[in-house]
Amino acid sequence: MFLGMDVGTGGTRAVLVNQQGYLVASASSEHAPFRTPHPGWAEQDPEDWWRAAQEAIHAALASVPGVHVEAVGLTGQMHGAVMLDKDGEVLRPSLIWCDQRTGPQCDWLHAQFGEGEAGRTRLIELTANPALPNFTLTKLLWVKEHEPEIFARIAHILCPKDYVRYRLTGAFAMDVQEASGTLLLDVAHRRWSKEVARVAGIPESWLPELFESPEICARISAEAAGLTALTAGTPVAAGAGDQGAGAVGMGILEPGSVSATIGTSGVVFAATAAPTRDPHGRLHTFCHAVPGRWHVMGVTQAAGLSLSWLRETLAPDQSYDALTADAAKIAAGSDGLLWTPYLLGERTPHLDSSATAAFVGITATTTRAHFTRAVLEGVAYSLKDTFTLFAELGIPVRDIRLGGGGARGPLWREIQAAVYGYPCERLTAEEGGAFGAALMAGVGAGGWPDLEAACAAAITVAETIHPDAAAVRRYAEGYAGYRRVYPALKGIRG
Ligand code: XUL
Repeated sequence: MFLGMDVGTGGTRAVLVNQQGYLVASASSEHAPFRTPHPGWAEQDPEDWWRAAQEAIHAALASVPGVHVEAVGLTGQMHGAVMLDKDGEVLRPSLIWCDQRTGPQCDWLHAQFGEGEAGRTRLIELTANPALPNFTLTKLLWVKEHEPEIFARIAHILCPKDYVRYRLTGAFAMDVQEASGTLLLDVAHRRWSKEVARVAGIPESWLPELFESPEICARISAEAAGLTALTAGTPVAAGAGDQGAGAVGMGILEPGSVSATIGTSGVVFAATAAPTRDPHGRLHTFCHAVPGRWHVMGVTQAAGLSLSWLRETLAPDQSYDALTADAAKIAAGSDGLLWTPYLLGERTPHLDSSATAAFVGITATTTRAHFTRAVLEGVAYSLKDTFTLFAELGIPVRDIRLGGGGARGPLWREIQAAVYGYPCERLTAEEGGAFGAALMAGVGAGGWPDLEAACAAAITVAETIHPDAAAVRRYAEGYAGYRRVYPALKGIRG
């Protein structure tokens, strides 16, 4: 069997997948919630991920007596900066992906590459992406400015799952998909960018060795074997960040295949044959976990979070099923009520961490069911913004697979199909990033010749949702209105 590990934000999950691509066991262990010592900050302790990883591995192995693990694959929350000294000791808590403190460092970095727009354009040429507070390099620059005594002791930098790999194997390694989210990678050439490292003042010796996702890059150490019940010498595949591994787990490998996943955040992810840069940096352009391919993705910060916020705020006593059953009774378009989901600022397409959310179009006849439906529709409109960018940049969309909580109920699936205007597929089982990481381990260990073969064995489509023609027309109007809300309200706060 192959062991996939997902070092998420809320917890770490370990899954066992057999040679037929079936998920045989799954176990997880929660992390301590991230700390917010100041508004917008988000920090976690790498040691806590390692504790959770050991617990999750133990529990998964214990549920299949006598199991033999052929290989391990890793995935996890992307972008977090783990800083280690020369002895491999953690120097400070990790600034994780959703930490928003580094706006000034983003501006500084752009300015190093040229004046005004030119600096940003040059950074996009070098790394395929602009500086955003989510990306690892900006977090290192914050530490350089505010904690120079810690910066001076850094000898290695890693992302969260790569730290767990370090504890499992002793190796400093990273895959190119994860490395794309550090802002230190020359994404087009799949190697570290010497120029960005030099300009930012990051010694190249700090950067881990790079691998393609299915490559075996290390082996379980004797020490980690004692702590986890894995066998010393078990090969470990490079793996990928949660978005790359999640895409593999949904079979999004070929150019033209696209996923729309609504979890806490929402991601529209497309595989591409070549690196497709957005000159304005509104999409992320990363190396794919598939060797020799790239991907683009747009991120809605508060997708599923919009619905959980609505429930907690307006209807804490109602279940999600009860809320959406009510919303299903309202006609498509929510009688003109619109929701822009910028509860946590927004990445795609606005790149505006200070954007705020809004309901627009409330009347005396607006009910709670309208608010719920408008939230489901507004989140879909926000994901459609990424499809609009795909069209602008000529990124092909052949078929769309729905994932996450947004794929679980029929109403949100139907809304998405009609808003995007494409048939959408639902998979028989969607097991998330840990499953994709296990498939990468399987390819690395020779269980399948490549990721295409692994996905062909492991993934089946349960249903195709065809968009309703009348709803498509109604949502085209609704989307036109939605697009006018952000520019009209930008900057207004009481
Ligand atoms: C990707 C991103 C999130 C994190 C946390 O760019 O920020 O997917 O990896 O899940």
